Amino acid sequence: MLQVTDLAKYYDGQPVFSGFDLHLPAGRFQVLLGPSGCGKTTLFNTLTGVTPKDAGDIVWQGETMSHLGNLCAYMHQKDLLLPWFSLMDNALLPARTRGLDMAAARERTTQLFFRLGLAGFESHRPHQVSGGMRQRCALVRTLMFDRDLTLLDEPLSALDAITRQRLQHLLLLLQTEFSKTILMITHDVDEALLLADDIFLLSPLPMAVTRCFSLALPKPRAFDDPLLLHTKAEILGHLEKGGVS
Ligand SMILES: Nc1ncnc2c1ncn2[C@@H]1O[C@H](COP(=O)(O)OP(=O)(O)OP(=O)(O)O)[C@@H](O)[C@H]1O
Ligand SMILES: [Mg+2]
Repeated sequence: MLQVTDLAKYYDGQPVFSGFDLHLPAGRFQVLLGPSGCGKTTLFNTLTGVTPKDAGDIVWQGETMSHLGNLCAYMHQKDLLLPWFSLMDNALLPARTRGLDMAAARERTTQLFFRLGLAGFESHRPHQVSGGMRQRCALVRTLMFDRDLTLLDEPLSALDAITRQRLQHLLLLLQTEFSKTILMITHDVDEALLLADDIFLLSPLPMAVTRCFSLALPKPRAFDDPLLLHTKAEILGHLEKGGVS
């Protein structure tokens, strides 16, 4: 579905990454794990055209393009909700800009609000709710883009442990339900092990993939699964050696 080859991005003449390759087959859930400041958000921004790439090829379903733009849904690390809109209106923005049937979109948003614990807060403004609630609203908005490929930049980072666990399960369900291909950034090894088909470990700046783990385990997964525990030990061992968070 997505093939990235030799991608490079420089800030002030210094590479954030160069010669960066990524292959994302349709239907997979891939997770990027790397230390703070290594270039993960910059990678997403470069893929989507928020910032221009300096070199490399981005091939989407066989077609070479300068960036993916709106072909993918992108949940930014910052929630980017519009402060003067209610949570519901923020979540409905993708449907509105695409000229979709608003009654159907509202129904779907209402369902997602319910499933993500936002029911009753539809008419609140972003400043009237918690950071975790804003993050969940941003997740609903991302899902309402309804793209085959979804990029999630630390989508669950502002959530407490219980809510986070609930939403991890929900993400899995949604991936199946919306038949998504997902590329997600997280700092949480357990989260990666629970959700990912492939986990890419990244080096500090300039960013490169240092190891890839593929987990052929059915989902939902149990934390005491021997293969999962073995992979976790390998990942933690690698992170300790490489100084990756
Ligand atoms: N607009 C910019 N101009 C100059 N340098 C930038 C810019 N954006 C990011 N950088 C630098 O690029 C590097 C990578 O930043 P980036 O935000 O991609 O890291 P990250 O891996 O997403 O970190 P985190 O896990 O903390 O979110 C950092 O050193 C950062 O200071
Ligand atoms: Mg980031």
